[in-house]
Amino acid sequence: MHRHAGLPCIPCIYSPTLSKDSTQLTQYTTLLAKSFTMAPLTHLFVTLSILSLLSCSINAQLSPTFYDKTCPNLQTIVRNAMRQALNKEARMGASILRLFFHDCFVNGCDGSILLDDTATFVGEKNAAPNQNSARGFEVIDTIKTNVEAACSGIVSCADILALATRDGIALLGGPSWAVPLGRRDARTASQSAANNEIPSPFSDLPTLKSMFADKGLSPSDLTVLSGGHTIGQTECQFFRTRIYNETNNIDTQFATSRKANCPASGGDTNLAPLDSITATRFDNNYYRDLVAKRGLLHSDQVLFNGGSQDALVRTYSTNSVAFFRDFAAAMVKMSKISPLTGTNGEIRKNCRVVN
Ligand code: HEM
Repeated sequence: MHRHAGLPCIPCIYSPTLSKDSTQLTQYTTLLAKSFTMAPLTHLFVTLSILSLLSCSINAQLSPTFYDKTCPNLQTIVRNAMRQALNKEARMGASILRLFFHDCFVNGCDGSILLDDTATFVGEKNAAPNQNSARGFEVIDTIKTNVEAACSGIVSCADILALATRDGIALLGGPSWAVPLGRRDARTASQSAANNEIPSPFSDLPTLKSMFADKGLSPSDLTVLSGGHTIGQTECQFFRTRIYNETNNIDTQFATSRKANCPASGGDTNLAPLDSITATRFDNNYYRDLVAKRGLLHSDQVLFNGGSQDALVRTYSTNSVAFFRDFAAAMVKMSKISPLTGTNGEIRKNCRVVN
């Protein structure tokens, strides 16, 4: 449910102290009733305030207009920085998208993945799925610097990552959407949750489904979000077993061509595109690859291997409008995993360290 555009929500800063429970709603209603006995102007003010409070507490939290008053140029700043980053290296759109996915899957979209390890702090950057693999941190730093210059202490790193992700995808030809905003930044991180809650490329379908279900995401969300692999690269060590051993569900020519740059031993970090044809274009070719048994990761091909997701994969392989529509909706859904709002967390000054 969206907040009324015309109703200012200044008291939202108090929203963490408000719960959605009916006792409080009753109290507000009683107050509202009492206000009718007051002088007309006071009455109008009180009524508007209460309606605003009600609207804030009911509509808990994130809204695309969250920074409209406090940082009006935010979206332009992020978009310009992403345009520059992609001009330098198109892959960066993919890297930022993956950062966001790995942020959201570990205690929610709270910027925790951006925190550096220190002598006294173990973050998520060196968890198995991220170490020597997660990239794009410098781009987020640049955007944060630019945003701080325009509106200091207002915008969270978690929101910057959410916006940068959307813009990277749109700039690479993908869909765009209104990003719900108002997340705050974590003051902690969890390396063990990053190790345990981000799926492995060797996972089978039931594991993937259950790991997504743990985050409130359906099998359809899994299938459409995996379409993020229409952009970006992966290392040989993550697809070697597939191209050498999964002979019964891989296109032979494709396997042979990938072996050229991924030897049976050695070359672990050699890169190959996740989408066989258009790795810097956000399109539906990932699904055409799956239907042709050219999925590169085991976790990709299990989405089309005679199982429950085959029909949806086929749909997306021929209908990019449906893919774009469902992808945007699923990104919004993923972006709402356990956000910190109100007075929880903080607005980090530097995305790499807690304040
Ligand atoms: C379904 C479970 C998933 C698994 C097992 C998985 C696994 C992986 C692996 C192993 C890589 C390559 C890492 C490397 O070689 O360094 C990768 C890359 C990538 N993943 Fe996923 N992924 C999954 C879901 C997702 C989702 C949901 C998204 C986004 C919505 C996503 C976006 C990306 C992108 C864009 C890249 C390329 C990054 C780059 O080029 O820097 N992945 N993924």
